[in-house]
Amino acid sequence: MKVLVIGSGGREHSLVWKLAQSPRVTRLYCAPGNGGISELAELVPIGPEEIEKLAGFAEREKIDLTVAGPELPLTLGIADLFRKRGLRLFGPDRGAAKLEGSKAFAKELLRENRIPTAAFATFSDAALARKYLAGRKPPYVVKADGLAAGKGVLICVTRGEAEAAVDDILVRRAFGAAGEQVVIEEFLDGEEASFMVLTDGENILPLASAQDHKRVFDGDLGANTGGMGAYSPAPVVTGEIHRRIMTEILHPILQGLRKREIRYRGVLYAGLMIAADGPKVLEFNARFGDPECQSLMLRLTSDLVPLLEATIDGRLDQVKAEWADDAAVCVVMCAGGYPGAYEKGKEIKGLERLKDWKRGVVFHAGTTKQEGRCFTAAGRVLGVTALGNTIHEAVLEVYRAAGQIEWDGAHYRKDIAQRALRPTRG
Ligand code: AMP
Ligand code: GLY
Repeated sequence: MKVLVIGSGGREHSLVWKLAQSPRVTRLYCAPGNGGISELAELVPIGPEEIEKLAGFAEREKIDLTVAGPELPLTLGIADLFRKRGLRLFGPDRGAAKLEGSKAFAKELLRENRIPTAAFATFSDAALARKYLAGRKPPYVVKADGLAAGKGVLICVTRGEAEAAVDDILVRRAFGAAGEQVVIEEFLDGEEASFMVLTDGENILPLASAQDHKRVFDGDLGANTGGMGAYSPAPVVTGEIHRRIMTEILHPILQGLRKREIRYRGVLYAGLMIAADGPKVLEFNARFGDPECQSLMLRLTSDLVPLLEATIDGRLDQVKAEWADDAAVCVVMCAGGYPGAYEKGKEIKGLERLKDWKRGVVFHAGTTKQEGRCFTAAGRVLGVTALGNTIHEAVLEVYRAAGQIEWDGAHYRKDIAQRALRPTRG
């Protein structure tokens, strides 16, 4: 079968890498892809937001299955469009993707279905938002309603900062239309975990647990990023926590969506805070996490194609996902300056040393390839991902590999997965 993957990040490279191993896949395309993906799939120069063009391509090339990587095409309605044209696409339709596309909508559904989450209020008026802040205690969590590339959440230590954040979002429109509303939330303490499931709207197939590292510097310091590294499994998700996530969060949210006649088909990613009194929802995403996906794809031993097909066809109760007992750790190598303004076009050296790497894969995110040489092309450049018998072994392996790669200005965290090496509660 012919498969098209939409997107150009490390997540998409890992999906393409996994799909390339499927005996079912005869031809792979990726739009628009990156330097690493070009070794496994034919690149198609169409952006993820050009959903009409993507549908046209899928029709012309008789693509049997399209996998939407990032959220943007989903919130634009690519699943609805493909379905209308009789094309098969993996990813939720526009109404369901709103769970990621609007934090106000997600919070409303959470409240409606009594699902544990931070207390909150939503505002479109800055004066009312300020008044609400005056009655709350710090720290304040201020969020732009819409998609803001992971930058729309501001954790503010003082009321002054929180008021400035509200003004930035609602008045100065720092996030454009994504800031028509703000959500102000209670600050939650605990350890974060990423919990992804496949769902056809009815059945739920949990994927392996993972944990992301959002801050740019070691020790969880500095600005928020798209994700600096990940590991799987996440020991914080114990058997009991897993059970609670399923019964207190995932089943009720799908039921809540069904009550509104929304059928969610795709990956549902719950960003969770595992607080002392249990798991609480920070956010939902309508797609695989990046870089969590890289760790997951390395550990998944089942063929991915039947899992995606069962999701689309509403047969998830008939399939199983098998995982390696090994742990996986992904370290994201970034361009100098990221997550602020960053440099591009630096030549990446050392990749050839890892060509035959047995225990890992160097997934590309922001790279381009020219005449066999690789150059940086975005903030997150590579996702070096390794397996190990334990998380500790995977950490040693992944840093051994990352140490062989270099370019001018490259930086990465040196403490990915350290939290998993400390004894956890529960
Ligand atoms: P979100 O995009 O909503 O997941 O937020 C991005 C990051 O901000 C999360 O991964 C958390 O680290 C942090 N965050 C969001 N909401 C809260 C909250 N209510 N309490 C504490 N931290 C939060
Ligand atoms: N790594 C966090 C995300 O994909 O949203």
